[in-house]
Amino acid sequence: MTFQKVCGLDDLWEGEMNAVEVNGHRIILVCLTGGEVRAFQATCPHQEFPLKDGTFDGQKIVCKAHLWTFDGNNGAGINPRHCKLAQYPVRIENDAIFLATEGVVPEFFT
Ligand code: FES
Repeated sequence: MTFQKVCGLDDLWEGEMNAVEVNGHRIILVCLTGGEVRAFQATCPHQEFPLKDGTFDGQKIVCKAHLWTFDGNNGAGINPRHCKLAQYPVRIENDAIFLATEGVVPEFFT
C-alpha cells in the first residue's frame, strides 16, 4: 500500500475538517476530539453533495444538504443508519498526514 503526504498535522486542528484530493479521490480529513485523524470520501453518499460544506464537531460529520450524519471515527451512518462513508487508511509520520487510496471505493445510498 502506497501512502502519500497530504498535509502537516498543523494544518488540521482538533475538531476541523479539510478537503484534499489524492490520486483523483476527493477526500475529507477530520481531526477527532482527542487528536486522532480519519479520512473519508468527500462526497455525501446520499445525493453527492460535498461534505466539506457541512459541519464537523469533533465527533460527527453532518451533510449540509439533508443533514445525513456520520460517525467521524469510522464513517458509520448515525442518521440514517443504513449508510456509511468509505474510509481511507491514514498514517502519521514526522508531524505529517499520509493517505492511501488503493482499493477504496466511495459508497452511495439513496
Ligand atoms: Fe448529503 Fe442529502 S446529499 S444528506
